[in-house]
Amino acid sequence: MPLALTLPSSAGVCMLLMVSNLLLWEHVASKPSGFVSIEDLYYRGVDQSHATYFLAADLYHEFDMKYFNSSWIKYRTLSPCHTASIHTPQSREEAHETKTEDFLKTMINISHAWEEPLKLLISAVPTLPGASDKMLKRANVVRNRTRVLQEGMKIILSRSEESENDPYPAWSGLADLQSPDEDTRLFTLYNLVRCLKRDTHKIDAYFKLLRCREVFKNECFTE
Ligand SMILES: *[C@@H]1O[C@H](CO)[C@@H](O)[C@H](O)[C@H]1NC(C)=O
Ligand SMILES: *[C@@H]1O[C@H](CO)[C@@H](O)[C@H](O)[C@H]1NC(C)=O
Ligand SMILES: *[C@@H]1O[C@H](CO)[C@@H](O)[C@H](O)[C@H]1NC(C)=O
Repeated sequence: MPLALTLPSSAGVCMLLMVSNLLLWEHVASKPSGFVSIEDLYYRGVDQSHATYFLAADLYHEFDMKYFNSSWIKYRTLSPCHTASIHTPQSREEAHETKTEDFLKTMINISHAWEEPLKLLISAVPTLPGASDKMLKRANVVRNRTRVLQEGMKIILSRSEESENDPYPAWSGLADLQSPDEDTRLFTLYNLVRCLKRDTHKIDAYFKLLRCREVFKNECFTE
């Protein structure tokens, strides 16, 4: 599939890609199933998940460089990510034994659990001392890509079964994010951005694993 994803990923290009990818998925969604091959869906998904993870890593890096304060680490403990309750395979063996549908459900669950925190992150970024436009743009692109990716995962899952209506884990950091204490707010955002990087990395790794399994029948090197 000739997606223009090899272009340099400046924010402008990202936005254009976002829009064109969204259109692509929508195109997929509106066509009778079977129109776009499962292979293409996996290829698009991996492109999206890879780019999303890179953006989240950039975001984390920028936040870390700008706002990291070593006194946090001394006086506060990083809380577990809000998605920690979603079980994910703990070993290579477990990953290989996990069914594709269960993987997809887990990935969709993680992605849903990020909807609200990403919205809050985007509204919090402009209030940061010396906030950069770049950071806000990245956060916006991560959110949009996460949506597009979620749509893609749902399309792939719907090829095998109907999805369920179980709840998604909620993020409980809102009070801290609204704290009058700047250190508390920064620390909360630091943790959130750290978790975002971790989860987008997970989704990317699972997508690559599933593509390897479903498209190449496991005849590939796992990334
Ligand atoms: C780090 O945090 C401490 C206490 O929370 C504060 O006094 C100090 O100014 C902060 N340092 C930087 C570089 O922001
Ligand atoms: C998502 O994960 C949580 C925590 O394990 C679980 O309670 C919930 O049912 C899951 N939701 C979906 C839609 O799978
Ligand atoms: C993200 O999507 C929203 C609408 O859903 C749009 O207004 C916004 O411009 C998009 N932002 C980026 C950076 O792609």
